[in-house]
Formats: sequence, C-alpha cells, structure tokens
Amino acid sequence: MLSLPLPGGIRRNPYSLVGDPHDRRKWRIAVRRQEQSRGGSAWLHESAREGQPLKVSMPANLFPMARLARHHILIAGGIGVTPIVSHARELARLGHSFEVHYAHRAPEFGVLVDELRQLAGGDVYCYVASRNEMLDFRQLLAERPLGTHAYLCGPQGMVENFHQVARDMGWPDTHVHSERFLAPPPGEAFAVKLARSGREVAVPGDQSMLEALEAAGAEPPFLCRGGACGQCETEVIACDSAFQHNDLFLSQPERDSGRKIMPCVSRIAGGCITINL
Ligand code: FES
Repeated sequence: MLSLPLPGGIRRNPYSLVGDPHDRRKWRIAVRRQEQSRGGSAWLHESAREGQPLKVSMPANLFPMARLARHHILIAGGIGVTPIVSHARELARLGHSFEVHYAHRAPEFGVLVDELRQLAGGDVYCYVASRNEMLDFRQLLAERPLGTHAYLCGPQGMVENFHQVARDMGWPDTHVHSERFLAPPPGEAFAVKLARSGREVAVPGDQSMLEALEAAGAEPPFLCRGGACGQCETEVIACDSAFQHNDLFLSQPERDSGRKIMPCVSRIAGGCITINL
C-alpha cells in the first residue's frame, strides 16, 4: 500500500510489486497513466520526484500460487501483467513449468514483455488487439494435463469470462485463480453515521467511504482496498438510500440483506448510512 500525498490529502493505493521478491533492498511497481484517474496515477506520473520519500505498508499476497501444481498457465490482461511478472519470476526461480499469455491493446501497451521473455523464454505469447490477435480461453484451457493451474489478472469482464469458460470446460474452481483491479468508483456524495460515537462523516463524490472515514480520523480496518480481501467488511445498522456494491467479496444474499458493506469500494446513492463503527 503506497500513501500518495495528493493535493486533497493522503490517498493510500494498492499496487503489485513486480521486482524480485527476494531482493529486500528495493520494491518495484508499474503504474499505468489512467485517463480517468482519481489522482493517484496522474500524481505518480507527473508530480512524484526521484528521491522523494513515500510511505509504504508491508506487502500482502492476495493472489497466491498453488505451489504443488504440475504446470502453471499465467494470463495477463493489460496492466494486470504486474502480478503475473512476479509469479513468473518466482516460478522461474523455482524451476517450475509455466507459460505466459499476455493480452494488451497495442504494441506500446506491452510493458514488461522483455522481462517476461527473460523469465519464460519462448513460452510467452502476446495477443495484441490492434492487430486483431485475440486470446481464446477455450483453446488455451483445452486438453491440459491433470495438475495444471491457471491464473489471470485483468479487467473484470475478462476475469468473469475466464471463470465461465473454465467452469464450462470442467476445470475445478480450485485450479482457476484470478485477481482483478478495482478502484473505488466515484458517485454521489453521502453521509456516514458512526453508531458507536454518534459522529457523522461526509463522503464526497470523488472519495471512497474508507478514505473519508480515514480523513475524519476513524481507523477502519483494510487490507487490499480493492474489494477483494474482506478485511473492511462493515455492519450496516441503517441506510436510507440504495447500496452500490462494487466489491468482489460479499455474496448476493449478503448484499440483499442490506446489513453489510465494503467501504473500500462500495458506497450508497446519496442520503445517509449508519454503520457499526
Ligand atoms: S480492504 Fe479488502 S475488501 Fe475492502
């Protein structure tokens, strides 16, 4: 987790480490300049200066590998290549069998390809959309030997399609792994009431509920800040508006109950929510 000193205050953003996990002297990240940035990627590209100290928290692994797999198929979509590079690095170090498939928009978006080729040799396959090269999950997952595990990091639609195809082809869920990037989407401003203290915190439209709570001095739990780990799960006591659940953690019955929310990425459509904090 990297704390970025943005003009509106500190913003903590999670990034994948792409460097050598055994080199404790430096941590490396790759950040794509987003056109629709909430400020983090723009700040890193335009304002961060060499030598500027930044605060980071200890890394956490929410996308682990199956170490006993006989073969690993690593798949990246766009900037989802970052954790895939780390997996490739570790598999190469261990001498395990693996291959990499990397789909990206145009040749100039194929960051870290050279590094992947150094790690996986000829077992790196690129699919460049501007050349009409498409990654076909059915072909990729067909007739793989028992003990093969597949991993994908990419946008939500790609991840959903990957799981659907794997399920349709009879792959066990235990052998299909994914991580998707999820930034807190903006929305309407709303208010959060903290039931234990009676305080009320305003959440602006461009801030997540978690960020607004932190800015107000509350200390809600978090880990991934991307709706995946479950660490920030919060009990809802009352809500006078519609939920906008954006996480990947809560089940549909939990969402329907109106009793839980993940403040790192989810919000409500205006109005007020009272939480057990
Ligand atoms: S911090 Fe991980 S789901 Fe919210």
